[in-house]
Amino acid sequence: MSVLKAFRRAACACLIASLTGAWAQPAPSINSGGLVNAASSAPGQPVAPGSIASVYGNFLLSAPSAAVAVPLPNVLGGLSLSFGAAAAPLFYASGGQVNLQIPWELAGNQASLTATLAGQTSAPLMVNLAPYAPGIFTMNGQGTGPGAILDSSYNLVTPANPAAAGITAILIYCTGLGPVTPTPPTGAAAPSDTFAYTTANPVVTIGGMPAQVLFSGLAPGSVGEYQVNVLVPANAPTGDTVSLILSIGGVASNTVQIAVQPPTPDQRAGQLLTQMTQAQEIQLVYGAGGPVTNNPPLPRGGAGFVPGIPQLGIPDLYLADGSVGVGNGVGQATALPSSIASAASWDLNQATQYGNVIGAELRAYGMNVNLGGNINLIGREPRDGRTFETKGEDPILAGKIAAAHISAIQAQHVIGGIKHFALNDQETGRTTANVQIDERGMRESDLLAFEIGIADSNVQSVMCAYNLVNNVYNCENAHLLNDILKGDWQFPGFVMSDWWATHSTVNAALNGLDQEQPDNQYFGSLAQAISSSQVPQSRLDDMVHRILRAMYAVGLFDYPASITPIDTTADQAIAQNAEEQGAVLLKNANGQLPLNAAALKSVAIIGSHADIGVLSGGGSAQVTPTGGPALTEGYPNPPGWAEVIWDPSSPMQAIQAMAPSAAVQFDPGTNATTAGALAAASQVAIVFVSQWTSEGMDLPSLNFTDLIHTPPIDQDALVAAVAAANPHTIVVMENGGAQVMPWLGSVSAVLEAWFPGQQGGPAIANLLFGAVNPSGKLPITFPASVDQLPNPVIATPPDGVTPFPVDYSAGFNVGYKWYDSQGFTPLFPFGFGLSYTTFSFSNAAVVNNMAATSNPNFQVTFNLTNTGAMAGAEVAQVYLAFPASTGEPPKRLVGWQKVVLQPGAAQQVTIEVDANDSSQPLSYWDVNSNGWLIAPGAYTVYLGNSASGASLITAGTLQIGS
Ligand code: BGC
Repeated sequence: MSVLKAFRRAACACLIASLTGAWAQPAPSINSGGLVNAASSAPGQPVAPGSIASVYGNFLLSAPSAAVAVPLPNVLGGLSLSFGAAAAPLFYASGGQVNLQIPWELAGNQASLTATLAGQTSAPLMVNLAPYAPGIFTMNGQGTGPGAILDSSYNLVTPANPAAAGITAILIYCTGLGPVTPTPPTGAAAPSDTFAYTTANPVVTIGGMPAQVLFSGLAPGSVGEYQVNVLVPANAPTGDTVSLILSIGGVASNTVQIAVQPPTPDQRAGQLLTQMTQAQEIQLVYGAGGPVTNNPPLPRGGAGFVPGIPQLGIPDLYLADGSVGVGNGVGQATALPSSIASAASWDLNQATQYGNVIGAELRAYGMNVNLGGNINLIGREPRDGRTFETKGEDPILAGKIAAAHISAIQAQHVIGGIKHFALNDQETGRTTANVQIDERGMRESDLLAFEIGIADSNVQSVMCAYNLVNNVYNCENAHLLNDILKGDWQFPGFVMSDWWATHSTVNAALNGLDQEQPDNQYFGSLAQAISSSQVPQSRLDDMVHRILRAMYAVGLFDYPASITPIDTTADQAIAQNAEEQGAVLLKNANGQLPLNAAALKSVAIIGSHADIGVLSGGGSAQVTPTGGPALTEGYPNPPGWAEVIWDPSSPMQAIQAMAPSAAVQFDPGTNATTAGALAAASQVAIVFVSQWTSEGMDLPSLNFTDLIHTPPIDQDALVAAVAAANPHTIVVMENGGAQVMPWLGSVSAVLEAWFPGQQGGPAIANLLFGAVNPSGKLPITFPASVDQLPNPVIATPPDGVTPFPVDYSAGFNVGYKWYDSQGFTPLFPFGFGLSYTTFSFSNAAVVNNMAATSNPNFQVTFNLTNTGAMAGAEVAQVYLAFPASTGEPPKRLVGWQKVVLQPGAAQQVTIEVDANDSSQPLSYWDVNSNGWLIAPGAYTVYLGNSASGASLITAGTLQIGS
C-alpha cells in the first residue's frame, strides 16, 4: 500500500529532525494537533480507535526503535503513550514521532493523550475519536470512488475491473480491527505461518449481503495495517456502486463503493474446476450411454448421457437429437417439416420459431443437450441421405438459418449443437471417407457455414464428424479443431465426437476433442495418459472447463429442466407455418394453381399414402410424431436400422376440407393404369411422389426411387401415366433435397413440399388452394441430371476400415457456384420459387459506404412492387461478382430480404451488406496471410429472385479502393 509507504517515509524524516533538536526537557511533549490518523490523513478529522496513527512531539529519545511482532508492545525505547488509562500499542518510536495503534477500546470517546518516559509524563492532548472503530482506506485516488479494495491480482475493484458475485475474493485494506494474535482462529498456526489474525471477527456486507470472511488480520509484511479478505457473495446486488461496509462488534466502518457483476460462465467454470478431483473431471469427458458404459441405461432415453456430480451441484447431461424435432424416440414430439424447408423460408424469424419448438420440447422431456444444427453443405452431394436435415448449399443462408435455430434452442436452456464438423457431405463410407480439399476451398464453403453458425448463435457444442479431412480423422484433426475452431474462431465451448467417431486417446485429447460419445473406449484411459505425461493435466482441465462453461452459459445450473407435457397445439401451429413458408412452388403452368374450391367437382389424390399421412426422413433425426405415426413401413437396407415413418397428417382430408363439395377419391399409385383411370375421370389429379431418405445411406440417383416397397413403385412412370390421362396434373413432392423430374414438361404444376412434418396435410392444402400464397425459395440447386454434379458417381469405400479419397477439387464452387463456373443450366436454380402473384424490381441503386471506419458496408436500394392480384411475399436476393483478380466464383449470395406486399403495393427496400458480418460477404480467403481479405476493385452487384442470371438485374457497381 503506497499510503503506508508514504507514512513510513514521513516517520524517517521526523526521526532525523528529532536527532538534531534539543533533548534537555525533563518530560516528553506532544505537539498541538500532533495526532494524525494514517487512514483518514486529513488533519482535524477524528481518528479511529484501533487504527494506526502517528503522534508528533518531542519524545526525548536518542535512537529510534521499532516493533515488528504482534502483539505490539506498549513500551518502546522506554516510551509509552496512553489514551486516558489505555496504553497504546507501539510499533515505532523516535525522538520526534511515534507510530501507534489507537487503543481499540476507546471507540467514540474523547481521550487525553499523554506520553511517558522515565516516569515523566507530558502535558495531555485532548483528541476526538471517531464514533467507529474500523476504517477502510479511501486513499489511492479513490476518495470518492472505490476504496483500497483489490482483487487477488492487486487491481482496484472498479467498474473497469468489477468483482464477480460468488467468485471474486477481494482484499479490503483497513485499520482499526483491534487486537491481533499469531494464532489462527481455527487452530494452531503452522510454524511457517507469519500471519497475525484479529481476535474479533469482522462482519463485511456487500450490497447488504454478508460476505464470507476468508482472512482477517494484519496485512502481511506490515504492522498496524489490516487486511480482510472476503468472497463477494453470490447474492450480492450487481452494479458499479455497490456499498461495502465492514463492522466489528456492531461498530461500522465508512462505506466504500465497489463494482460487482454477475460472474461469467468462464469464471464460474474456473471456480468449480478448482474443487474437482481428476476422477470427477474424467467423468465429464465421456458418455455413459454406450455399450461399455451404459449401466444403468440412458435414464431419459435420447442418444447420450453424462452423469453429473451431485456433491458439486453439477447436473446430468441428457443428449438428444433434434434437427427436425426431438429425435431418438425420446417421446412423441412435434414433427416439424425438414430443416431444409426451414431454410427454404429464407426467414430468420420463422427459423427462430422452428428452433423454439425443438428447444421447448427437448426441455419438456428433460433433455439439455441438442445434437442438432446439421449444417453440412450438401450441395456438394445432393444424393446424401441426410440432406433433409441440412440448410442447403449456400454457406451464408445455411449459417444464418442454423444460427437462428440454435439461438432459439439455447434460449430454452438447452445446449445447442452444430455438426458434423467438417466436410461430412456423403453417407456412403462416412466413417472412412477421406475428403481431399485445399484450405481456401474449405474456408469459403463448408467451414464458412460453421463459422457463421457459431459466431451468430454462440453455440456451445460442436460435433466432430466421422470422416477424415486431408488424411486426418475429424475428431483428432488439430488443424480443424485446434487451429481453426478453437484458434481462429475462438470457440469457447466443447467438441464432442459423433457416435463412436473417436479413434484415439492421446491424439484426440491433444488435437482438440473434449468429450467422447457415447462411450469411453478412449477417454476412459485419460488418467493413464496423464500419469505417463502423454497428455498434460492442463488439457483435461481445459476439456472440463469448456464443458462446464457451456453448461453455465446456457443456464443448466441456474434453470434445471423439469419434465412437463409439450405444448402440442402451439407447436403444431408453428410446424404448419414452417411448412407453409418453406414449400416451394416450382411450376404453375396456365395458372393451374391455386385451385378454385367453388369450381372443383372432382379430385383424384394419387400415391404416397396421401390418404393418411406424409413422409418423414429417417435416422437419428427421426421424430416420433405426436399421436403416433400414421404408418410405419419397415427398415430399408441400406441403412437397415432406420424405420420409414409416415406422419399422421392426411393431405387428402385437408383437401376435402378445402373443397367440401368436390368428390375427392384416392388411388394408392401402386398401379399406373388404375391411377391413370381415376385421373382421367377427375377434374384435377394431384399425384404425391415421395423419396424416403435417411442417415446411413445415399440415394442411388436423383429420380424418385422407391426404396420402401417390393416390388418398387415406379413413380416417374406413375406421374407420366397420370399426366397423360389428365392435363390438370399437379405433383406434390415429399422428399429431402434435390430431384430430377423427367415428367416435368407434361404436368401443369409442381409443389416441393419437402418432408412436410405432421401438419403437412393442412399446409399443402392451404398452399394448393391459395389460402397461403407460396413464398419458399430453393436453398439447393436442382440439377438437370447427376451428370452435372461435381462427382457424378459417388465415391465408394473399398471396405469398412480403409480410408478412401473423396475428391473435393471443386473447392468453394459448391451448388450454384459450381453450376455457374461450369456454365451448366440446372433444372431449377438456387433461390428459385414461384408465387401466385408477380413482383417487379425497379430503381435499383448501390450506396457505397465502404470507406466508413466503424461499419463499412454497401446498401442496395430498390423498389419492389407486387404486380399481381394476390398478397404475397418475395425474397429479394443480392449476389456479388468479385473482381476477376480474386479468383472467386462468378457470383456469391451476400444478402436477402423477404418482403410481404399486398396486391399493387410497392415498397422501397434497402438491403445492407456489412463488410464485417460473420459471413465475410466481401472477403476472400487469402492463403498467404491465412485470413480473410477484401480486394480492391470493381464489384458487380446483382439483384433478383434466384441465382439464375436471367432473373437478376444489375443494381450497380461497387468500387472498393481506387
Ligand atoms: C449421427 C449424429 C447423431 C448421433 C446420435 C450419429 O449416428 O451421425 O448426427 O447426433 O448419431 O444420435
